[in-house]
Amino acid sequence: MPTSVVPRRPRVVLGVSAGIAAYKACELLRLFTESGHEVRVVPTREALRFVGEPTWAALSGNPVTTDVWESVHEVPHVRIGQGADLVVVAPATADVLAKAAHGLAGDLLTNTLLTARCPVVFAPAMHTEMWEHPATRANVATLRERGSIVVDPAVGRLTGADTGPGRLPDPKEIFEVCRGVLSGRPADLAGRRLVISAGGTREAIDPVRFIGNRSSGLQGYALARTAVARGAEVTLVAANVALPDPAGVKVVRVTSALELRDAVLEAVQDADAVVMAAAVADFRPSARSGSKIKKTADEPDAIHLVKNPDILAELGERRRAGLKPYPRVIAGFAAETDDVLANGRAKLARKGCDLLVVNQVGDDLAFGTPDNAAVVLLADGEQVDIPRGPKEALADVVWDLVAARLA
Ligand code: CTP
Repeated sequence: MPTSVVPRRPRVVLGVSAGIAAYKACELLRLFTESGHEVRVVPTREALRFVGEPTWAALSGNPVTTDVWESVHEVPHVRIGQGADLVVVAPATADVLAKAAHGLAGDLLTNTLLTARCPVVFAPAMHTEMWEHPATRANVATLRERGSIVVDPAVGRLTGADTGPGRLPDPKEIFEVCRGVLSGRPADLAGRRLVISAGGTREAIDPVRFIGNRSSGLQGYALARTAVARGAEVTLVAANVALPDPAGVKVVRVTSALELRDAVLEAVQDADAVVMAAAVADFRPSARSGSKIKKTADEPDAIHLVKNPDILAELGERRRAGLKPYPRVIAGFAAETDDVLANGRAKLARKGCDLLVVNQVGDDLAFGTPDNAAVVLLADGEQVDIPRGPKEALADVVWDLVAARLA
C-alpha cells in the first residue's frame, strides 16, 4: 500500500521580550499557527508581565519556558534553537538586541539565539530615543553584519503621547517577512541599501481632479517585501498606493512626479541600487487651478500640459557623468502595449539603466492583479523571460540580477 509522507511543519521559535507591544505578538503567533507552522514561544521573564504564560501556551499549543532551569533533562537551552527553522523576536527590546549582539546568554531566549543555526529575524519596538541611541544603532549594525534580519520599526504613536520611529510593525507584515525568509531566499542583499518607487503619480488639475494612471503599487511593494526578506534596507517611495506599509521598510509617500523625483534623489544619496517600478506621469498641467474648475462655459478650456522630468533617465545620466547622487545599479520597468521587445530595447538604451523589466499591459493585464509576466532586458544584450506568476517571483528575479551586479 502506498504510504503518504506528511510534510514536516516549519518550526518557528517566537521570542518575546519585555515591551508593551508583546500583545501584538499574539496576533503574529496566530498567523503562524493558522498557516501550519509549529511554534514554540520563548518569552523573557519580564515579557510575562505584559502577556502571561497561559496565553502563549494556549495559542501555541506548546509548553512555555523562560529560563534554562526548567525541564533541564531535555536540554532546552540548546535543543530549541538547534531545531528551529526560523527564530523571530517580536518585540525585540533594546536590551535583547544588545544581549544578542554581544553573545550574552542569561536566559532561554538568549541561549536560543546563540544556538540557532537558522535565519533570525528581529522586530524591534521601543521608544525613539532608545532606537536612535548610538549603542542600539551599533548593536543593530552588528546583528545585520552577521546576517540577522533586523526589521526597522514603524513610525507612529508610541506608548504615551509621543510619536516617532519605534512602533512594532503590523504583525501581518512581520509575518510576511518571516514567510519570505522561510521560503529559503538567500540573504544576498544583507547590508545593501535599496530604493524602490511604486504606484502611480497624480498631476493636479485643480483641488479635486488629477491626471493619474492605473498602477496599484503591488509590484513595487512585492519588490520591497522580497528585498527585506533577502536582508536589504529598503526605502520605498510610494505614489498614491492604498496598501499597508511593508514591515521594515521606510515608506516615503508622494503624490506628483516632481515630488517623486525629489524623494528618489534624496533616498539614493547612500543607496546601492534603485528600482523604478512607479508609473510616472510624463506630463503635468502647466498650471494648477487654485479653485475647482466649474462647468459654466459651454466649451471647456483645454488643459495645457508640460513635460515632467524623466527620473530614470536622469539617474542614468548622472551615473554616466559621475554626478552624485546616483546608485551603482539602476533598474526600470516599462509598460508597453505594442512592439513590446523593440520598444523595451530602445527604452533601455534611452534611459541608460542596467536592466529593464518589460511588461505587456492592456485592459486586463498587469494592473491591480497579484500576478505578472515580463521579460527583463539587460544592458549587455541578454534577456530573461519570467513566466506568469506571483509578483513576488518576478521581484526575486529582479533581485537575483541586482545582487549579481552588486557582488
Ligand atoms: N519613468 C521615470 N520618469 C518619467 C517617466 C518614467 O522615471 N517621467 C520611469 C518609470 O518609473 C519606469 C521607466 O521610466 O521605470 C519607464 O516608464 P514608461 O512609462 O514605460 O516609459 P516612458 O519613459 O514614459 O516612455 P513612453 O511613454 O514613451 O512609453
